[in-house]
Amino acid sequence: MVDAILGLQWGDEGKGKIVDYFAPNYDIIARFQGGPNAGHTLYVDGKKVVLHQIPSGAFHQNTINLIGNGVVLDPVTLQKECAKVAEFGVDVKKNLFISHRTHIILPTHRALDKASELQKGHDKIGSTLKGIGPAYMDKTGRNGLRVGDLLDKSFTTSYIKLRLKHQRLLDNFNFQEDISAWEEEFFEAIEFLRSLNIVNGEYFINEKIAAGKKVLAEGAQGSMLDIDFGTFPFVTSSNTTTSGVCNGLGIAPQKIREVMGVTKAYCTRVGSGPFPTELEDATGEELRKLGNEFGATTGRPRRCGWIDLVALKYACMINGVTKVIMTKADVLDKFKELKLCTGYEVDGKSSEYIPFQMTRHQIQPVLKGMPGWDTDTTAITSYTALPAKMKEYVDFINGYTGVKVSHISNGPGRDQIVTV
Ligand code: GDP
Ligand code: IMO
Ligand code: MG
Repeated sequence: MVDAILGLQWGDEGKGKIVDYFAPNYDIIARFQGGPNAGHTLYVDGKKVVLHQIPSGAFHQNTINLIGNGVVLDPVTLQKECAKVAEFGVDVKKNLFISHRTHIILPTHRALDKASELQKGHDKIGSTLKGIGPAYMDKTGRNGLRVGDLLDKSFTTSYIKLRLKHQRLLDNFNFQEDISAWEEEFFEAIEFLRSLNIVNGEYFINEKIAAGKKVLAEGAQGSMLDIDFGTFPFVTSSNTTTSGVCNGLGIAPQKIREVMGVTKAYCTRVGSGPFPTELEDATGEELRKLGNEFGATTGRPRRCGWIDLVALKYACMINGVTKVIMTKADVLDKFKELKLCTGYEVDGKSSEYIPFQMTRHQIQPVLKGMPGWDTDTTAITSYTALPAKMKEYVDFINGYTGVKVSHISNGPGRDQIVTV
């Protein structure tokens, strides 16, 4: 049996906290896509930890953490992260497994990411510059190196060949930066990676499922950043939606039971691209301040706005969401009035659809006002104790999307979550 937790917006919905919360119910937590562009924040023993590559089940002693074939893996980030997790007394090597089909991010992928963004100038995607796009391009272009290749004697030769190809591209970009220091740490990290549990991921996970083990698939980024269904070209390079669970782990669709979609009670986006409900005013600033909306990976300020129900309903549809988990509801505690986007005016015409190419249209959000609850909710632990106006806000969202909110997160802490 497999359940999934994935983001329904533009990432940073609080997936890390939610996976950590549900982890005790599962035997395996498996990341199915994305790479070190992800930053998943957890609080362990009151201490903040941000995970980029390791699944968010890392702090549960008996949970297996699998990095699936759909992930792109930066060995340097992984090594540093393993050291960080070990500081909490966790035996990372024991519980961490990596699929042999997982593609490796090379130092030249990072350089290519940077060179490509520089060339785009104003049209840049706002990439995290972790080499994600170029690594996935080498996967679909059938050039990439995979974790299983590390076990082969020809790895260094294959590396040199690919590096040469990248160098030609970098020369075309006129990219001059010296990356020899990156390469040095890369080869050190490659040795470390070789010492980890490299497995035949698709058999590994299917055999566990057949033995009755429970799997939680952890997504990175969010549905509106999906390569196919997001706000292309301002997206990431993988399928962040439920279909990515099958491709990224090697499991069949009928094995998936619950799809838990995570949404903030409002909306944020980091990087460039369309964001219909964005607030570039004092209210947006207030959301950023109260929500501490700064990127977990890059530290960039996140763009903030009201909840976008058109996008949320779309994400529920694409993913087949069975439960919505609403995070950061407490960030709205101080607002006297809230707004929700219930439609778009696309070039002056009303619509409740996500357009083909958002950047080609003038999109105005149609906003519905609702009274705020104006109450501190951060210590509330039961649904009955939540303010009536918060329940009305949630009920309205349920009615719009047709999927029920099952949990409301009211603070970053492990215990700050209310079951509806
Ligand atoms: P992820 O990438 O989806 O895992 O999300 P991030 O970790 O990038 O960003 C979510 C941020 O919100 C982190 O700083 C979390 O600690 C924090 N957070 C998660 N849930 C809540 C919540 O319910 N309330 C508040 N105030 N913060 C939360
Ligand atoms: P988590 O898992 C928020 C954004 C970048 C950029 C675009 C492409 O923490 O939710 P990339 O580095 O993939 O080439 O960047 O996607 N982005 C994210 N935004 N959360 C993330 O991950 C993101 N990963 C990538 O800001 O706009
Ligand atoms: Mg994040």
